[in-house]
Formats: sequence, structure tokens, C-alpha cells
Amino acid sequence: MARLKVGVLISGRGSNLQALIAAGADPAYPAEIVTVISNRPEAQGLARAASAGIPRHVIADPDRAAFAAAANRLLREAQVELVALAGFMRILDPGFVEAWSDRMINIHPSLLPAFPGLHPQRQALAAGVKFSGCTVHFVRVAVDTGPIIAQAAVPVEDDDDEDRLATRILAAEHRLYPLAVRLYAEGRLRIDGNRVAIAGAVAPKIEVLNPAEALADLASDAG
Ligand code: GAR
Repeated sequence: MARLKVGVLISGRGSNLQALIAAGADPAYPAEIVTVISNRPEAQGLARAASAGIPRHVIADPDRAAFAAAANRLLREAQVELVALAGFMRILDPGFVEAWSDRMINIHPSLLPAFPGLHPQRQALAAGVKFSGCTVHFVRVAVDTGPIIAQAAVPVEDDDDEDRLATRILAAEHRLYPLAVRLYAEGRLRIDGNRVAIAGAVAPKIEVLNPAEALADLASDAG
């Protein structure tokens, strides 16, 4: 089975990259990372790529068009079929986004369209939401927009701070991103406007309440 060739763009820690590397270690997984590109030479994710024997590149040029041209060349050389942004924190050249339209995905640590941009976990706490989570979506020119492929909901706890919430969301990201890439690789995704239909997928038949209903029982016991 030919596996889908994925190029991953990073800027930092690379834990989502690591989750994709781990998924690809299973020969039955239908995608493999063939190149990793960072815009920052100090990105930890570069060492993760090196340990996995994946070719890695740094394009530090601050000029957006120059970055796009260099990235395009590397992605084409590696015969990349899908670009996955994994903690890539630069705004991409619009021409690059158009060129990879429907073939480039991103993961963001909120339930988009809530809390796009920087510090989404901080934004979630400030807004007082009871659930946040993460989203994998196709990339469009406006930042953190595009048809949504998959989401994971993560309950917010009363004593959460930004770090605690981010840590729990990150654990969900590491499950969600490999799933979304697999669905793409299996050709199951069909984009229809803003919506993505997933062949063979079922939504979980549950509603999750936060706080859990058990609290109401406790309150009535106390009363
Ligand atoms: C992740 O939480 C990812 O969702 C987020 O940056 C972090 C990167 O962590 N991305 C964005 O906020 C993009 N808008 P990682 O480098 O360990 O994967």
C-alpha cells in the first residue's frame, strides 16, 4: 500500500509532530511524514524529526513570499500530497494557501470558530466556557478558518489555569491529529462549503454535561 506523503510545518516544541511520527511508525497507518520544515532553527521538533530519520529543513527567511517559495520547492521535491501545520506560528502567504487549498490542514487548541489566534486557552478561561478543546481543519487564507474535519471537546475545570487546560487539550490533540490525517489519507473526507462529510464515520451518541449531573444529586442529598 502506498502511503500518503505528508509534509509537516512546525515552529516549536513539535509534540503534535511526535504524535504523527508515532502513528506513522505503524506500517498499517496510511500516511508517512516525508519532510519537516521549521521557520525557526531552534524548534525542538527538528530534533524529533532527526531521531525519526525524517529529512528536516529550516527556512528562517522572515519574508512571507520567500518562505512560501522555498517551502513549495521542498514540498514538491519530497512529493508531498498533504501539508500538516503542527504548531506552525507564522501567517502564510495567501498564494501558498491557495496553492495547497484542500491539501493543507491545521490543528488549533480551541473549538473553532471560538478563540482563533494567539493564547486560545487563555481566551477560553477569560470567556468562562465550560468546554474547550481542539480542532483540525482545512486551511484557508483567514487565520484559523476553514472547513472543520474533527474536534475534541475538553471540559474546563474550576481550578484550571492556562497551563493545566493547555496540557489536557494537548493530550486530546495528540489523539485527534493522527485520526484526522488517517481520514484524509483514506480518502474519506468530502468538503461541501464549510462542512466536511466523513465517509464511514459516526458521531458519538452522547451529550456531555459540565458540571456532571452527579452534582445535582449531591445538592439534593445535601438539601
Ligand atoms: C499546539 O497546541 C497547537 O494546537 C498550537 O500550538 C501548539 C503547538 O504544540 N497551534 C496553534 O495555536 C496554531 N494556531 P506542539 O509544537 O507541541 O505541537
